[in-house]
Amino acid sequence: MTILILGSGGREHTFAWKIAQSPLCDKLFVAPGNSGTAQIATNVNLKVTDFEAIKVLVIQHNIEMVVVGPEDPLVQGIHDFFLDDNLLKGVAVIGPQKAAAELEGSKEFAKEFLFRHHIPTAAYKSFDATNVEEGYRFLETLKPPYVLKADGLAAGKGVLILNNLDEAKAELKNMLVEAKFGVASSKVVIEEFLDGIELSCFVLTDGKSYKMLPTAKDYKRIGEGDTGLNTGGMGAISPVPFASEEFLHKIEDRIVKPTIEGLKKDNLPYKGFVFIGIIKVGNDPKVIEYNVRMGDPETEVVLPRLKTDIVEIFKAISEERLNEIEIEIDQRAATTVMLVSGGYPEAYEKGKEITGLEHIVDSIPFHAGAIVKGDKIVTSGGRVMAITSYGNTYQEAIKKSYQNIEKLYFDKMDYRKDIGFDL
Ligand code: AMP
Ligand code: GLY
Repeated sequence: MTILILGSGGREHTFAWKIAQSPLCDKLFVAPGNSGTAQIATNVNLKVTDFEAIKVLVIQHNIEMVVVGPEDPLVQGIHDFFLDDNLLKGVAVIGPQKAAAELEGSKEFAKEFLFRHHIPTAAYKSFDATNVEEGYRFLETLKPPYVLKADGLAAGKGVLILNNLDEAKAELKNMLVEAKFGVASSKVVIEEFLDGIELSCFVLTDGKSYKMLPTAKDYKRIGEGDTGLNTGGMGAISPVPFASEEFLHKIEDRIVKPTIEGLKKDNLPYKGFVFIGIIKVGNDPKVIEYNVRMGDPETEVVLPRLKTDIVEIFKAISEERLNEIEIEIDQRAATTVMLVSGGYPEAYEKGKEITGLEHIVDSIPFHAGAIVKGDKIVTSGGRVMAITSYGNTYQEAIKKSYQNIEKLYFDKMDYRKDIGFDL
């Protein structure tokens, strides 16, 4: 089978690494890909939201399966685009249709879904430019900190957590009236603050049944001790040590099952990954957010623990027979540490040569913002490379990641030295 992966991050390199191991995969394309995917697949330089260009590529190479990495093409309706086209409708697309992708595309839509299906989550109200004053009044009824979320996609930056009421009001106005996050903040969801520890839960569904994948914990802040600005993710660990068997059962019963049932009841067509951001409040799980794709860098620790052939799983999803598949998980822990360009998540330089990759032993470097330039590999983004390792414990795995990072170099290379510090 010929397969296409859309995207260019560490997540997509990990998908390529896993798919390339499948005997069912004869030829693999990644668009646009990076220096990591270039080693195991054919990169094609196109934009993941350029559906017409994707169509040309799919027809030209008889591509039978498309695995969508990031959320943008899903929220813009790539799956529907394929279904609506006579030449493309037979292609298996892994990712939900547009109506279901709204679970990530609109925070308000997600909150309404959660409440409609009685899934535990924070109390909320949403506001737009016509009722800013009501937003102020609602903030006055809450205790700090105040959680403000831009309704639409804002590249992971649309959530503000503020300690001060006046600041919260000012930011609400900034978002709604001054379009701080563009159209994404033309609506704002104000939420009750939940105090607890977060984890990410991953579910595969064909729209009828579901399979749970290993949990992971992502380290989002740039600074050690979880300080400083939010990033796409600086490292991850799987499994999550504090997610006991009992807690996982609560997640499955109270969150996963009603989510899958809710998709069915609401006629939201879903064939793909559901990423549920969960917060553990006391001993109870509550939903922070839905994403309609895998996480990055969570993929870099979840897929390495998946023993089952992922192409077989994807085929089963596409044919709505996921219930026939056994998911086998590696019992070892996996960890990843993200190497980033100095300055990220604010301004940073690109084009720096990355050296030392040939000295890595017993870790897997998943390339992210890195590309091939001549005979060199150079940085092309903020998050450059995720160094993944296995271990009998996460401590053992993380040690291997750090030992290998010592061998790597690029100008202004930065990373967090405390992944797992809080566990
Ligand atoms: P989101 O994009 O909805 O995942 O929010 C980004 C981050 O903000 C989350 O990972 C949490 O750390 C934090 N967050 C979001 N909603 C809440 C909430 N209701 N209470 C506490 N923290 C939150
Ligand atoms: N690491 C968080 C995300 O992928 O959204």
